[in-house]
Parts: sequence; structure tokens; C-alpha cells
Amino acid sequence: MTENYDKLMQLLKSRHSCRFFTPDPVDEKALQHLSDAFALAPQAGGNRHLQCRFITDQATIRCLAARGQEAFAAFCQSIPSPFVREETERYGKNFFWFSEAPTLAIVTCRKAPAFMEQLAGKKAPLIWGGELSAAMSSFSLLLAAETIGLGACCLTGSLTMWREMEDLLDIPKRDSLILLIALGYKKVLS
Ligand SMILES: Cc1cc2nc3c(=O)[nH]c(=O)nc-3n(C[C@H](O)[C@H](O)[C@H](O)COP(=O)(O)O)c2cc1C
Repeated sequence: MTENYDKLMQLLKSRHSCRFFTPDPVDEKALQHLSDAFALAPQAGGNRHLQCRFITDQATIRCLAARGQEAFAAFCQSIPSPFVREETERYGKNFFWFSEAPTLAIVTCRKAPAFMEQLAGKKAPLIWGGELSAAMSSFSLLLAAETIGLGACCLTGSLTMWREMEDLLDIPKRDSLILLIALGYKKVLS
């Protein structure tokens, strides 16, 4: 009776964020599995508001990381307090390391509609549920990645530069960039 629970626990315990990948590309079939898992999670308002697309072009991923890092460095330079600047720079080392990831998942959701903002003000995004739905779908994707031997790491730190990232990724104005997920085959570190 506990067989499924045991399997689930094993999967949950084996999943860890992965930040080092082999250069092997993630094939189409694997990406399809990830998309399927993403779409099967519970989503507010059906699955109309969420999107997950994959960037598999290495040059594009490197360019995104480099441009994000540049924008972040410029932002850090504008911080007057040396202490706050150094702390921000230190924390920011976790934000743009994904340049060598063979694949990057881009998770976006439709912004809450105007009527919902009128109804609920600042609470509108929470009620709209886009970000929560994205979290649920992304976790399904992470678990699916683990079952097919892929490593993954969610990334929201890079959204400190969200304007630049949304611009570089051509996110339509009606949508918000929720998170990036670095993906690839796990590199065994010696
Ligand atoms: C929403 C979210 C955003 C995250 N953003 C980043 C990030 O910007 N950079 C990073 O290196 N890791 C990021 N992580 C990964 C966490 O650091 C990691 O999940 C946490 O340390 C727990 O480790 P585990 O995933 O191995 O269990 C993020 C995780 C989540 C869930």
C-alpha cells in the first residue's frame, strides 16, 4: 500500500538543485516530457495563463547570462553604500551563473486582468494565481527532470534585472517573467 508513497519519497529525496552540467544537449523527447509534466500540475484558471518555453541555443543562453550580469554589475555600481554594494555583489553571484546550462526553461504567466485589479487591488496577482500556478508546474517539471536523469535549478535571482531580462527574452507586455530553470545532464564533480 505504501509502494507509491515510497517511490514518491525516494524521488523527492533524490531531487537537488543542480548547477553544473555536461555539455550534452537536452533532446526533444526529454523536453516534451518536461512540458507534459509542467502542463499537468494544477493551474488557476485552467492552463491558459502559463507558458514554459525552452531555449536550447547555447549562444543565446550565454548572451542572456552575460547581458544580465552586465546590467546587474551596473546596478551594483549605483549603490552608494560600500557595505550594501558588497553584500549585493556577493549575493548576486547566485544570479547569472547559468551561461553553461545547455537548456533554459522560461516560465511566464499572463498578468492579472484589469477587473481583478479593481476587485482586489494589490492582492490581484495572488488571487489570479499565476505565480502560484507557475510554482506548482515548475515543481512538476523539476520532478520529471529528476526521473529522466536531468539536473535542474530554479532561478529567480536573475529577475533583479527583470526589465532587461523580459526585453532580451521578448516577453510580451501582457505577460510576466516568473522564473528561469537551468537544465541539463548532471555533471559529476570530482
Ligand atoms: C523560486 C526559487 C528561486 C531560486 N532562485 C535561485 C537563484 O536565483 N540562484 C540559485 O543559484 N538558486 C536558486 N534557487 C535554488 C535554491 O537555492 C535551492 O532550491 C535551495 O538552496 C534548496 O536546495 P535544493 O533545491 O537542492 O533542495 C531557487 C529556488 C527556488 C525554489
